[in-house]
Amino acid sequence: MLNSKNMPREEGIDHTLSLMREGYMYILNRRRSFNSDVFETRLFGKKAICMGGKEASKVFYDNEKFKRNGAAPNRAIQTLFGKNSVQVLDGQNHKHRKKMFMSILSPDRINKLTDTTKKQWEKAIDKWEHMDKVIFYEEAKEILCRTACEWAGVPVQENEIRNLTNDLGAMFESAGVIGPTHWLGRKARNSVEKWIGEMVDKVRNRTLNPPENTVLNKFAMHRDLDGNLLDARTVAVEVINILRPIVAIAVFLNFILLTLYNFPEEKGKIKSGGEEYTQMFIQEVRRFYPFFPFIMALVKKDFIWNGYKFEEGTLTLLDIYGTNHDPEVWENPDVFNPNRFAQWDRSPFNFIPQGGGDYFMGHRCAGEWVTIEVMKVGLNFLVNQLDYEVPDQDLSYSMVNMPSIPHSKLIIKDVKKRI
Ligand code: HEM
Repeated sequence: MLNSKNMPREEGIDHTLSLMREGYMYILNRRRSFNSDVFETRLFGKKAICMGGKEASKVFYDNEKFKRNGAAPNRAIQTLFGKNSVQVLDGQNHKHRKKMFMSILSPDRINKLTDTTKKQWEKAIDKWEHMDKVIFYEEAKEILCRTACEWAGVPVQENEIRNLTNDLGAMFESAGVIGPTHWLGRKARNSVEKWIGEMVDKVRNRTLNPPENTVLNKFAMHRDLDGNLLDARTVAVEVINILRPIVAIAVFLNFILLTLYNFPEEKGKIKSGGEEYTQMFIQEVRRFYPFFPFIMALVKKDFIWNGYKFEEGTLTLLDIYGTNHDPEVWENPDVFNPNRFAQWDRSPFNFIPQGGGDYFMGHRCAGEWVTIEVMKVGLNFLVNQLDYEVPDQDLSYSMVNMPSIPHSKLIIKDVKKRI
């Protein structure tokens, strides 16, 4: 092997506490101080490499260099991902499972989803008109939970909706925290996995018949590379891999509302700017605000990149937030400016709010198009179809918590549907 140079290194026994303290800025702060897109540190009690920026994300998404199995911490598997999910598969098994996800995300199915979302927004607004105050984050999660279940073919009774919304929310709200909230997330996952697992059995013995092209139907009947049905619990994990992140779009909807409040001039631009400006606005919301801080993988086999040695088995973190705020790519990255997307080169490696690279060959988010379309529906309601007031409240948001939600969860009042 070629000789390698020393990678910039953060000295000390372990820096997990700094990661927890600095949150979304941890990797970017060190990339700046080392003046390097890659550095070595120690996290979670072991050696780790952190990297960010376009070139780093190109390497990170090279399936010959990195693998996912064994990289995600147990606490994320027990809450966010679930066991044996697509996130922890590699090679042919990953490709085959990913195809299952992409098959239910055709343009037709996405249209069906946006129609369902619109219907749920209409219903929610009828309710909001009679409420003294609306806690937008909680309401948005419920709209999305109803949408996701109906679209995915998962039957849910009216009196179960609030609990299910809370359980799906707990799975992504608890992954990055310790203590009771984390345990709520584990409990929520166990009960929803069991509930959906029982549905899968019923689909297979035909006592439950969800519509043909729905997630529940397709996933329940999916066969692995050996031609076997997946075990019911794994199907439940993957159905949740659709329901949970659809509910999580509430985080982006909150940031849309916050943006419209902080930059009211955006409303006029959205109204006059047509499809093109709407698309750029949505992209800028996904770039600007914190959501996922980083993605983890393990070095698959020794290699050298930019003169630095990556040793087999080393935990590696790709900086999502920092790549979306990299001044090499984004001029004045900390300014909210949708117009920057008019010049964006559409590289799959420099704008990675939902991961980068290829959807089918790699781990890039299966639901990125869904997210964008569902955000557009919400934006249209907030700009063109609703009047509301935003009373005084704490609108600040954390740069440490994952996910980050404005502290007040965004309260609106005097909601009126525009006629
Ligand atoms: C709420 C906004 C969302 C954000 C911020 C987000 C973010 C991400 C990120 C960062 C990844 C990991 C990429 C990687 O490992 O390289 C991912 C993967 C994934 N996302 Fe999303 N996502 C969102 C919405 C969705 C939606 C709506 C769906 C489904 C309809 C979805 C389904 C998935 C799946 C199945 C994976 C695993 C892909 C794989 O491992 O091959 N996500 N997402």
